[in-house]
Formats: sequence, C-alpha cells, structure tokens
Amino acid sequence: MQVLRCERMSGLSRIGVAIDTGLLDKFDRLIAQRGYANRSEAFRDLIRDELVEKTWESPDSHVVGTVTLVYDHHVRLLNEKLTGIQHEFHHAILSTLHVHLDHDNCLEVLVVRGKSAVVRKVADILISTKGVKHGRLTITTSGAELK
Ligand code: NI
Repeated sequence: MQVLRCERMSGLSRIGVAIDTGLLDKFDRLIAQRGYANRSEAFRDLIRDELVEKTWESPDSHVVGTVTLVYDHHVRLLNEKLTGIQHEFHHAILSTLHVHLDHDNCLEVLVVRGKSAVVRKVADILISTKGVKHGRLTITTSGAELK
C-alpha cells in the first residue's frame, strides 16, 4: 500500500492510497458485511485499533478493557478462588457482571482499568485458573486520546 498524496484542511487530512484491486475488493466485501457505510470509517477504525494495541504494549500505559470468564460453579473452591483473585487486584477491577447461564455455568465480565502490565496479569491469572472453561481479555481504550 502506498500513500499518494495528503491534503490537510482544518484538522482533517485527505489521503489517496494505491492498493491492489483484488485486495481492495476483499476489503470492500468485508466492510460491507460489517455494515460500514464507506471505506473511510473502516480505515479509521483499523488505524484506531492498531493505536490501541500499541498503547497496550507499553507496561506502564493506562488502559481499559474487559475480562470475560466462563466457568462451572460446581468446581470445588473455584468461586472462592476467583473472588480472592479479584479482591487481590481490586484497584484494577471497576465492576463485575455475573450471569448464571444454566444450571452449571456462570459467565462473568469484569471491567478492568489500570497499568497495562497489571491488567494483563489479573486477566492471565483469572483465565488460567483451573476450572475456567474459557476466558478472554478484550483490550480497548478510554477513548480520550482517539478522535
Ligand atoms: Ni453463576
């Protein structure tokens, strides 16, 4: 991909991009499936996503995210373990949502905020706890540094 030109006007830059036709066709199909009205917003979202990922790479940067956990609450002492870990990292956990999915399974979503290294650590510890069937850290941003 090659940027051809760049016009800047009142905080908005317009760029021309040379891109392989086949690749652009695939991109257009993808963004149509996702409901984008035009390429510009799709490009902006890709750029924002990369910038958020980059922020998370620095251990001291302040980040926001969610941790999703699915587990069987019948597993012995699992609830106690997960609650204990959350209390240990209470500064990094803003809120939790617990849903009893069925007779056995629970879904928890934790909103996490803090230094990237701390947030990753609490997510890793929770997700790797024996009895957690599935876990995922979703990284996002407070939005303050993104337009
Ligand atoms: Ni439950």
